Amino acid sequence: MTIPRKIIVTSALPYANGPIHIGHLVEYIQTDIWVRFQKLCGNQCLYFCADDTHGTPVMISARAAGIKPEELIERVHKEHKTVFDSFFVEFDNYYTTHSDENRQFSELFFKRLNEAGSIVKRTVEQAWCENCKMFLPDRYIRGTCPRCKAEDQYGDSCEVCGATYQTTDLLNPRCAACGSTPSRRKSEHYFFKLADFEKQLKKLIADEYTQKTVANKLDEWFKAGLKDWDISRDGPYFGFKIPGEENKFFYVWLDAPIGYMASAKNYCDTHGLDFERLWNSDEYELYHFIGKDIMYFHALFWPAMLIGAGFKTADKLFIHGFLTVNGEKMSKSRGTFIRADTWRKHLDPETLRYYYAGKLTGGIEDIDLSVDDFINRTNSNLVGKFANLASRSGPMLTKKLDSKIGRLDEGGKKLLNKLTAAKTQIVDDYENLNFASVVRTITALADEANRYVEQNQPWVTIKDDTETTRTTLTAVLNTVRVLTIYLKPILPKYAEKVEKFLNVGELKFEDVETVLENHTIGKFERLFNRIDKKQVNAMIEESKESKAPQVRTQTEPFAPECTIDDFAKIDMRIAKITKAEPVEGADKLLRLQLDLGGIEKNVFAGIAQAYKPDELVGKIVVCAANLKPRKMKFGLSEGMILAAGAGGKDIFILTADAGARPGQRVS
Ligand code: 2FM
Ligand code: ZN
Repeated sequence: MTIPRKIIVTSALPYANGPIHIGHLVEYIQTDIWVRFQKLCGNQCLYFCADDTHGTPVMISARAAGIKPEELIERVHKEHKTVFDSFFVEFDNYYTTHSDENRQFSELFFKRLNEAGSIVKRTVEQAWCENCKMFLPDRYIRGTCPRCKAEDQYGDSCEVCGATYQTTDLLNPRCAACGSTPSRRKSEHYFFKLADFEKQLKKLIADEYTQKTVANKLDEWFKAGLKDWDISRDGPYFGFKIPGEENKFFYVWLDAPIGYMASAKNYCDTHGLDFERLWNSDEYELYHFIGKDIMYFHALFWPAMLIGAGFKTADKLFIHGFLTVNGEKMSKSRGTFIRADTWRKHLDPETLRYYYAGKLTGGIEDIDLSVDDFINRTNSNLVGKFANLASRSGPMLTKKLDSKIGRLDEGGKKLLNKLTAAKTQIVDDYENLNFASVVRTITALADEANRYVEQNQPWVTIKDDTETTRTTLTAVLNTVRVLTIYLKPILPKYAEKVEKFLNVGELKFEDVETVLENHTIGKFERLFNRIDKKQVNAMIEESKESKAPQVRTQTEPFAPECTIDDFAKIDMRIAKITKAEPVEGADKLLRLQLDLGGIEKNVFAGIAQAYKPDELVGKIVVCAANLKPRKMKFGLSEGMILAAGAGGKDIFILTADAGARPGQRVS
């Protein structure tokens, strides 16, 4: 291996139709730590990623939001970037699969694979929604499970009994977007002949392309036989059109991994680098970080596509497991499906980086975020061990000893030697993605350093022996420096604060070998705050389903169609709220008295959590005036006022201009 190494790293491209959550962050934090580590060792390491922008879910989400897919993906791209920045995930290029580079590469792959005879055309029959005028992917068909009869299940599998089936077996199938019953329709599709690459793929796996632990799973797939892969989709579809076709597009999973290359190409073009050399020569090592859910694509399809199109394959796939929270699957109702931006609102992003690092071993086992363990590790290690070491020594040196570090004595040197001796182990563990071991080693070293402080008691010696105290603090601040170097891939912001306070430049791994003597330090800045369980509870509360902004990958079925004439039957009138009062026994309801130009109406509205009665009186609203009166437990409701929102506190009544006349018709 030549030193410095040249390394290209990718993380899986997140879909552009939803926000980043803490489950996603396992991978980005894991990759970022590894990339930072490589850079700190002096290696040239480039980290590429992008938004995965194509496919039916993006198209449907955009439709539901009433915007173009291009607009949606641009919006999400900004959101994703902001989140990654705030968690210190530092890409060298964060691009998009909806780019010219990606289109060109996708067409190139298709052309080369086609010319090599690796692509065949075949007619397939699929579900078709006449109302939406589109073929329905399995996930966009809902119906009753043929096995357990659970309703509202996906077209390919039942979430209740776990059965997997063909969409044709689903009972009472409906289009998830519009509720119509789908029919069957034939269409020609392009298939990639994966089985043609079996030999090369088996060799790749034998050469340790993946962790050994996943070889069994791959074996199962080989034994089951590699099937042709459908790489085309009929329009309407948000993606790249297949050259020479009128209404066919590349399936999102074809152009998604090619997006790794497109991101790299875009970087090369903007940084004057030769792409061919960077991506396709032995000069650079190449690693993909992925989750175990997308192993099939990355261990089989992607390398086969690369081989077939004449590109080199990655040196290795680093596969990680899923995140569980408190031992269970992340759940929206329990509030453990936590969005990254929600985390950031309540807690320091570096606490999550530190916690994940402490759990990641490089294996494919799931990792668990236990809330109590998280609080405990943050408070006792980050605050109690690392930050404490600095806060016990820095401010004292500044206030009492002119901020001047002196020289190490024998005791200090001995302590420092212990820390530097751990470097080989730490470097090995980082390299092998065993961050949990890194954290254990560093924590034990911090314990050692804290014991040194206890033994030397600088807060006592400062009273009558300033120079001995300076020697003690010199040792302690040197341990802070070395521990910070070791922690820097995990805690980049923390490291930056320590560098500033120690008044040193950007620390690198090689700096572990040197010491800081006869040096003036800078101003101490608080490094970490203790976490209170209340903060975590507030974050979980905010993440609970009803409160979290709804993120849908698919639209719920619409109600049956109504005509404009049906709609016009509702008589909307301007109304003035003349009285508003709570309803005993119904904490969501308010009783409103409305004036519709001399006609009074009594209306019960479910807006009690959003509005106080007092603030409503006098407001000019819009009332559906000809609704059939409805007898409720609390009295007769004679209409409805127009309001919208997610519910609870988030309901907003539609108000009209104060000049509007009660009783006036609203068109
Ligand atoms: O599973 C996912 O979230 C995909 N968007 C990952 C794509 S990775 C690569 F192939 F693009
Ligand atoms: Zn439909």
